[in-house]
Amino acid sequence: MDDVPAFHGILSDPVVTRFWSTPPHQDEAETRHWVAAMMAIGPGEGEDFAIEQDGRVIGKMGLFRFPEIGFILHRDAWGQGYAREALNPVLDRAFSVHGLPGIEADVDPRNTASLQLLHRAGFEETGRASRTWNLGGVWSDSVYLLLQNGLV
Ligand SMILES: CC(C)(COP(=O)(O)OP(=O)(O)OC[C@H]1O[C@@H](n2cnc3c(N)ncnc32)[C@H](O)[C@@H]1OP(=O)(O)O)[C@@H](O)C(=O)NCCC(=O)NCCS
Repeated sequence: MDDVPAFHGILSDPVVTRFWSTPPHQDEAETRHWVAAMMAIGPGEGEDFAIEQDGRVIGKMGLFRFPEIGFILHRDAWGQGYAREALNPVLDRAFSVHGLPGIEADVDPRNTASLQLLHRAGFEETGRASRTWNLGGVWSDSVYLLLQNGLV
């Protein structure tokens, strides 16, 4: 729970959460609840990780609910390869430790950074849907992606 302030700095940023599944966090209590939910994920349900750089939390990467992947990084950490670096061990563990047949992602079609990250790791698009998320009265769409075991 010591990481709540660092996570709040990430999840309260409207630029960072532009394509996130919830609006920017309004206060630390909301982030405390979010971190507690992440820590409460059971061993058979998912596996999420904080990403640290020099002892400071800069984001999270993991399977918040098998087999779905999710990730978010502080804006200051973007564009330096950290997401890619964090993605590889998460994928390795999903296949070799948890034996998942595949890993899924649901990404806003405008989220080019996430799509690039996933495509470079071998994810392939499996479909699209319109008006899948409603945040504050605004609808957004989804691109669905899959990385099958054996393709990494
Ligand atoms: C998605 C995110 C985690 C990427 O993190 P990152 O550390 O900047 O990514 P990396 O530096 O590891 O780059 C990964 C790939 O994406 C590309 N990329 C990164 N930012 C990009 C951008 N703004 N536009 C296009 N491509 C981009 C990189 O060039 C790299 O591709 P390459 O290997 O072909 O060069 C980060 O942008 C983020 O936190 N976004 C907000 C949260 C979010 O949308 N999460 C996903 C919800 S589904």
